[in-house]
Amino acid sequence: MASTMNRAYTTVVLAMSADGKITDRDRTAARFSSPNDLAHLETVVAAADGVLFGAGTLRAYGTCLSVRQPELVAQRRAQRQPPQPVQIVCSDTGNLDPRLQFFRQSVPRWLLTSPAGAQRWQPPGEAFEQILPTLTTPTHWLSMLQRLKAMGLERLAVLGGGTLIAGLVEQDVVDELYLTVCPLLLGGQRTPTPVDGQGLKADLALRLRLVQTSTSNDEVFLHYRRCHPQGD
Ligand SMILES: NC(=O)c1ccc[n+]([C@@H]2O[C@H](COP(=O)([O-])OP(=O)(O)OC[C@H]3O[C@@H](n4cnc5c(N)ncnc54)[C@H](OP(=O)(O)O)[C@@H]3O)[C@@H](O)[C@H]2O)c1
Repeated sequence: MASTMNRAYTTVVLAMSADGKITDRDRTAARFSSPNDLAHLETVVAAADGVLFGAGTLRAYGTCLSVRQPELVAQRRAQRQPPQPVQIVCSDTGNLDPRLQFFRQSVPRWLLTSPAGAQRWQPPGEAFEQILPTLTTPTHWLSMLQRLKAMGLERLAVLGGGTLIAGLVEQDVVDELYLTVCPLLLGGQRTPTPVDGQGLKADLALRLRLVQTSTSNDEVFLHYRRCHPQGD
């Protein structure tokens, strides 16, 4: 586990079905969680300096989750944070449809992409204020998180999907996880899960500590932290 001292701290937030799927077989926008869960998600986003999500998630939803609840906007103001966290899209190809509603939302947008992907969006401007080229494939997350911290982003909310999160898990840079278990079954061998990618061998599995649980109606809210080898 890399120290979080010099890098952005990462909090993954996901809703999944009772059989561990984060969307359906057609990879549509996941809208199966309750208004309570969406409020919880917005709270985590409001506490962040930046929000990280994969291009697959953006393509499914077409928009990002901005902070709208007046009390959360006020909370950010009280903490001298900008009104909205920076929305950082990860897209290796940079192949994103500029007609998406996302590009009309009043939020700061950054793009994390390969040098080739960066070419598509140069120069930085209205679509993306900042373009962060990844110098390696796969992304060397520790360096990228160090860079994001140096750019003023101390806390990142990571909203998925399973491909992006797999990269972070494989490099052991997930610090915290909020998982909402929702009362439905979606099934499907190839349906996305919270962590896709190649997977880890059991002896390399990342260990978590359960910090809090709660239930609301038929949903279970789980809050985990990465368990440090020192026992923290
Ligand atoms: N239930 C939930 O809480 C939840 C949350 C989020 C998403 N979802 C669901 O998850 C599905 C999408 O998941 P997904 O696994 O297909 O997509 P994803 O992880 O959102 O996106 C995958 C894409 O992100 C880009 N990417 C990932 N890691 C990258 C990295 N390190 N550097 C640069 N680019 C990177 C690549 O984009 P390019 O192909 O452009 O190179 C990759 O193809 C959607 O159906 C959505 O509804 C559910």
